[in-house]
Amino acid sequence: MKAIAKTQAAPGLEIIEVPEPTLQPGTVKIRVERASLCGTDLHIYDWDDWSSNRIKPTRIIGHEFCGTILEVAPDVTDRKPGDFVASESHVVDPTSPDYLNGLGHVDRTTQLLGVDIDGGFAPYAVIPAMNARPVPTSVPKDVASMLDALGNAVHTVMDGPIEGKTILITGLGPIGLFAVAICKCLGAKNVFATEISPYRTQLGINAGADLIFNPLTDDIPALFAEHAPNGFDAVLEMSGHPTSLELAINYCNPGGRISLLGLYAQNRQTIDINKAIFKGLSIHGIIGRRLWETWDQMIWLLDQKNLDVSAVVTHQMPFTEYETAIQTMKRGEAGKIVLTFD
Ligand SMILES: NC(=O)c1ccc[n+]([C@@H]2O[C@H](COP(=O)([O-])OP(=O)(O)OC[C@H]3O[C@@H](n4cnc5c(N)ncnc54)[C@H](O)[C@@H]3O)[C@@H](O)[C@H]2O)c1
Repeated sequence: MKAIAKTQAAPGLEIIEVPEPTLQPGTVKIRVERASLCGTDLHIYDWDDWSSNRIKPTRIIGHEFCGTILEVAPDVTDRKPGDFVASESHVVDPTSPDYLNGLGHVDRTTQLLGVDIDGGFAPYAVIPAMNARPVPTSVPKDVASMLDALGNAVHTVMDGPIEGKTILITGLGPIGLFAVAICKCLGAKNVFATEISPYRTQLGINAGADLIFNPLTDDIPALFAEHAPNGFDAVLEMSGHPTSLELAINYCNPGGRISLLGLYAQNRQTIDINKAIFKGLSIHGIIGRRLWETWDQMIWLLDQKNLDVSAVVTHQMPFTEYETAIQTMKRGEAGKIVLTFD
């Protein structure tokens, strides 16, 4: 089969010919139907510090995908051929103490699909059965391909109360855009956002944001005073930009929560920690998806609450056109790009 792979310790990716993967104990073989590109794939393409320190070529990349199970290993009893599933990218040891204590999302044994082990940017993938999450037929396949990323947004949004609350989302990349739709679906009173890209701002309007401010060109203190005079009950930081962190601490209400999903280019950030203490803020780091609580919440939102994130899907292309897809993402001219494997 053909697969998109990192073949050398250098920038770029290639399509290579590899044997179809074979079942191992505890795994399922999936006929991949759709996959979705993520910022991590760009890091791998660019061969930045993080990816060059972590990935051992040759590696089939891709951690967001969906498809139909073709075969299951003899010891797998809770998945069967014909099940339609989506990938969870964090592969953990199910016997580890972290996982058994309900801390699978921060499990110290975690390996990442498409990074530490072969992923799903190929017509067939073999992954642990528990990482193949059943998806109801009500969920469109394009959306099913990106549930790993949507789960990041569900985890961040549902980290605290939303109904009737005034929320600020900083950064409208795909995950921020998902968060807008989720906050609306869960009955937030107001969903405000900040974003610097006009393209992404338009997607934010399409996703249902009430107002979107541009920190580079707008008078933020005046606009926040006008539109959110009582401040924000929660700030969901999804830009990874230091000024958003400052904004969050300045404008989150006393007793409010700041949920930090965005990753910063520099590990160390200077923040007004005393302000956070005197305001009694709850500041939470968010990583991945809770295994499996976030997945249950996400399927409930999609299947029972009619969560619609179709506004975030902007492109679909054959996987052989991955180079075009990556360059489109790099220009910031995309929400989510779906790859097909027909
Ligand atoms: N914690 C986790 O588990 C996890 C998982 C996936 C991604 N992430 C991180 O979450 C963040 C969001 O992911 P994404 O895929 O949506 O990323 P993205 O890079 O596509 O989106 C970030 C958005 O923030 C905007 N932005 C940049 N500077 C800004 C500013 N000063 N104010 C407002 N907006 C600004 C950008 O224009 C962009 O639209 C990224 O930092 C990513 O690295 C974290």
